[in-house]
Amino acid sequence: MADISQTLRGKFITFEGTEGTGKTTQIQCLEEYLHSRGLNVLVTREPGGTRAGEQVRTVLLEQTEVPLDARTELLLMFAARAQHLAEIIYPALRDGAWVLCDRFTDASYAYQGGGRGISDSDIKEIESVVHPGFQPDLTIVLTCALETAMQRVSSRGKKDRFERESQDFFERVHAAYLKLAGRDPKRFAVINTEPEIEEVASRIRQTVDSRFSL
Ligand code: TMP
Repeated sequence: MADISQTLRGKFITFEGTEGTGKTTQIQCLEEYLHSRGLNVLVTREPGGTRAGEQVRTVLLEQTEVPLDARTELLLMFAARAQHLAEIIYPALRDGAWVLCDRFTDASYAYQGGGRGISDSDIKEIESVVHPGFQPDLTIVLTCALETAMQRVSSRGKKDRFERESQDFFERVHAAYLKLAGRDPKRFAVINTEPEIEEVASRIRQTVDSRFSL
């Protein structure tokens, strides 16, 4: 297969972290900043981002009464991702857009790998089928104390399939994210979201400014 990255003029920035770390707020802040610099920005999310992907998201997150084997969960994440890449991400990057994506494949390593215990090598095989040679230009992992994150999640109302998981599960997810970030410091930036929202947003802007010429 031809190297798809060669045809992509835009930038692909992904946001990761356990639930309750403030991704949605920070993505919005970065979107405003990039807009203010005159850039074409697209915000999207996983699982989801397309009509088919949003339906898969419902099965994965909301239909908690439908049992899902860990491997089914992993394959559904990648099925939604394949559609998302083909329909939204690649076309936007070809057009030169800055795509801000709320979670991507690192979430599969963290949740289905770290959380559910599927091996990295199994995930890698599926990754190599779904997006061979393609990786985010920058991945921002947001972290905060697990207690802070859990408090933020419990204030949101009905819990989805993952939000019902144990503290142990989230500790494994968190550890998996830090392991991924440690292996590839060029692609990843780990940012603590305990400080005030504006302070965190400013650190993210600095990271983006230092890694790309805007
Ligand atoms: P959220 O991003 O709105 O918090 O919800 C998405 C949930 O899906 C979150 O709990 C993480 C989970 N997830 C995975 O388990 N694997 C994946 O590959 C992705 C993209 C998300």
